[in-house]
Amino acid sequence: MNKIFADNILQGKVAFVTGGATGITGGVARAFAEAGAKVAITSRKEENLIAQKQFIEENGGECFAVVADVRDYAAVENAIAKTVEHFGKIDIVVNGAAGNFLVKPEELSANGFGTVVDIDTKGTFNVCRAAFEELKKTQGQILNISATLHYLATPMQIHVSAAKAGVDAITRNLSVEWGRHGIRVNGIAPGPIEDTEGMKRLLPEPLKDKLKNKIPLRRMGQIKDIEDAALFLTSDAASYITGVTLVVDGGQWLLGTSFG
Ligand code: COA
Repeated sequence: MNKIFADNILQGKVAFVTGGATGITGGVARAFAEAGAKVAITSRKEENLIAQKQFIEENGGECFAVVADVRDYAAVENAIAKTVEHFGKIDIVVNGAAGNFLVKPEELSANGFGTVVDIDTKGTFNVCRAAFEELKKTQGQILNISATLHYLATPMQIHVSAAKAGVDAITRNLSVEWGRHGIRVNGIAPGPIEDTEGMKRLLPEPLKDKLKNKIPLRRMGQIKDIEDAALFLTSDAASYITGVTLVVDGGQWLLGTSFG
């Protein structure tokens, strides 16, 4: 149990978490379940969903899993409908499904660029749009997982930078447009988080120590750092916070990403 917060801080809530089987958002889904929420998770990969559902249930939580690709609006609508059928409502949506790889812009195909924008940006819109009527009923909220890559410029990451800039725009726009329905919309921009698929793809092992020395807090982030931020932003402790993307990166982006 996460002892920083009161026990069962999300008791009675239903959370719908895309990319909720693994990585950072997998951690967020587990933390939400530990905090008392019923959790619906989606992923493209059924085997990952099965493992995560089993973990959450073995630890006393409730989990419902649906295979869905966030790029496919019909699949997203179906996943939302199935979740409401199963748990009765949705209070919290977490957009965590994302794609990434390192590539030079001159070597990236138009389809490669579009694929990441489709998963991250269009996928985030798809889920928000499909969940809107349910969130209106519960005066619910949205949490978009973003990044800091686009605050400056990150080499080999033009596609993800563009995609996450779009995600941040969605966070701000929806907070303004859906605030009147009582819906809060926030984001988290994780810095370098250890033991994630993203870090394995983006940071070669020898660069890890170099990076640590460039982080003001002198350590890599842990998935738990993001879980805690997610619990805070989705709890009543943040009831007057909307339109914010909270940077959780040990101060890293302020020093840039260059190793030169
Ligand atoms: N470098 C350059 N281009 C790449 C690439 C790489 N490492 N990986 C994929 N692409 C390009 C492909 O070449 C293709 O473009 P093309 O048709 O012009 O050749 C396009 O991206 C789509 O690739 P595809 O493999 O068909 O897409 P997908 O939908 O199956 O996979 C990805 C999506 C590309 C994001 C894939 O990397 C993935 O599934 N990743 C897992 C999730 C993840 O990245 N998690 C980390 C989050 S931080």
